[in-house]
Amino acid sequence: MESSLQQNEPFSHNVTRVVQLSDCHLGADQSFMLAGINTFHSFTQSLAEIEGNLKKPALIAVTGDIASAGDPQTYQLFSNAMSSSQLPYAWLPGNHDDFSLMKKSALQPFTRLVELGSWVAIFLVSAVPGEVYGEISDTELNELDELLAQYEDKNIVLFVHHPAAPIGCKWLDQQRIANSEQFGDLIAQHENVRALFSGHVHQENESMWRGLPVYSVPSTCFQFASGSDTFELSDLPPGYRWIDLHPDGRMETGVERINYDMGKMDHSCLGY
Ligand SMILES: [Fe+2]
Repeated sequence: MESSLQQNEPFSHNVTRVVQLSDCHLGADQSFMLAGINTFHSFTQSLAEIEGNLKKPALIAVTGDIASAGDPQTYQLFSNAMSSSQLPYAWLPGNHDDFSLMKKSALQPFTRLVELGSWVAIFLVSAVPGEVYGEISDTELNELDELLAQYEDKNIVLFVHHPAAPIGCKWLDQQRIANSEQFGDLIAQHENVRALFSGHVHQENESMWRGLPVYSVPSTCFQFASGSDTFELSDLPPGYRWIDLHPDGRMETGVERINYDMGKMDHSCLGY
């Protein structure tokens, strides 16, 4: 499934390209810094590189933790940056977001699904108000069940903030979707789900979970060290995931890193 992306590569007009961005951790204004990183700058630099290096994606999927601490100004800042880029996008909330506030403050409403030819991207909510861990509510699962049946002839990609499967970081694996068994049982009842894409873990990962390819993506700001038992930052630069969807149900995906000086990252930061 994994392959590398050639910059500015010509690709078949039949291929639909989706780009996943995650964990932007924006503040209320453009000067906000976290762990020594200006998160607005690294986010807009990510957008600029996507626009500069890639054929225009059909969709940017922003998988949560858009805000470092949800407030209306942050969601306006995010909305304005996305509008300026003119990239088509959809978003879902993470544990650092305030979903109800986001629905009121973001320029673009929450979108449950985006149809992309023979593919459908479904956006799920795993953020639990006031909690760091993830969980998918019964309402959410019931709606997913109905949508998977309704679109049984389409290829489905799922986007959700928290991972369903462990990624090998003890502290982050404790925060994955708490009812992932129930979630996996539901997916197993349908044959059209091709992959699951998550954020939250600020690092690239891929594995097979209950027969389904599952992926995570670097953050658009600072990264967490892979294989760490407790909170630990990595010096890797921000990145994004490209996902190429073929009309026949095949999919390719990979991660690209942006050009970003991580020299000012604050390793004494003990949390976020
Ligand atoms: Fe998160």
